[in-house]
Amino acid sequence: MIIITQEDEALIIMQITIIRPDDWHLHVRDDDALKYTVPFTAHQFSRAIIMPNLTPPNISTSQALAYRDRILAVTPEGSDFRPLMTLYLTDNTPADEIEKARQSGHVVAVKLYPAGATTNSDAGVTDITKCYKTLEALQKHNMPLLVHGEVTDPDVDVFDREKQFIDKVLTPTRKAFPELKIVFEHITTKDAVDYVLAEDKFTAATITPQHLLYNRNAIFKGGIRPHYYCLPVLKREEHRVALNKAASSGNTKFFLGTDSAPHAQNRKESACGCAGIFSAPLAIELYARAFDANNALDKLEGFASFYGADFYGIERNTETITLEKKDWVVPDSYPFLDGEIVPLHAGETESWQLV
Ligand code: DOR
Ligand code: ZN
Repeated sequence: MIIITQEDEALIIMQITIIRPDDWHLHVRDDDALKYTVPFTAHQFSRAIIMPNLTPPNISTSQALAYRDRILAVTPEGSDFRPLMTLYLTDNTPADEIEKARQSGHVVAVKLYPAGATTNSDAGVTDITKCYKTLEALQKHNMPLLVHGEVTDPDVDVFDREKQFIDKVLTPTRKAFPELKIVFEHITTKDAVDYVLAEDKFTAATITPQHLLYNRNAIFKGGIRPHYYCLPVLKREEHRVALNKAASSGNTKFFLGTDSAPHAQNRKESACGCAGIFSAPLAIELYARAFDANNALDKLEGFASFYGADFYGIERNTETITLEKKDWVVPDSYPFLDGEIVPLHAGETESWQLV
């Protein structure tokens, strides 16, 4: 990583150049929506792990490959963006589907949604022990299991669902499959950080920009703010601090995954608004702001560009991007289908800009 500070009369220009990052957790939706979502990510990132929670979900390798073609069809000309595909785990995913996925060369992981945990998760897993044969195949093929880590019991407080998932699901699953690669996705609590730190090299975690930059007060600041609502929901300040410490520590178990989750403005600003924060247009800038606030810009490159690829066993990128410290105002919205979509930090000043 190169940091350049130029003093040009009164103006101080600060730039950082890093190896092009990857997004290890991304939603782009499907069909007509793709042309509004994919170009943002292709502009910033070299590769992205594409979530399979479509309607209907991508449960087979052939569905994932057809979805990949639809994404490539809207990737801007000249971009060498590569979508990395995933399968949606169900109670009935056949174990031999994992071998097909591996052989495809394009499906690189399987996603566990506990049934009912979040957007389009109804077909998800009702009891992880029903999937043990498939997890055995994943372990054998060295293919990561990506985990939405929340219990779904409605009696459990929404702010405690991640912690309970660690105790009730993750710990026993790990015991049954000691060498299964697990990515604990979009972690939101100090409990999750501590869990990942205590585990061995087979466990890693992604962290979103919103969980680094905001605590749960953001959802209620001066009124109810649907564009700060995602799942797992933002937590208390002490958890945000723990996530920042983990991300900016240089520990290779923590890497970038935006969980950018596009929903049309009218689906967010509603009596029952969808969960999901759209960060794709300014994702790397948001992370740069968070690392800058931690005085840890020198740790951004590892987190954004190296540790994810290393965990997945995929080669690191070689080209670079440059970010400049320069204020700009984030648009209030972007076109999306027949309407608009509101990005994270809409209408506010962002302090870093991709050059
Ligand atoms: O906030 C979220 N939105 N969390 C998820 O787990 C899913 C995502 C979506 O697909 O909208
Ligand atoms: Zn997600």
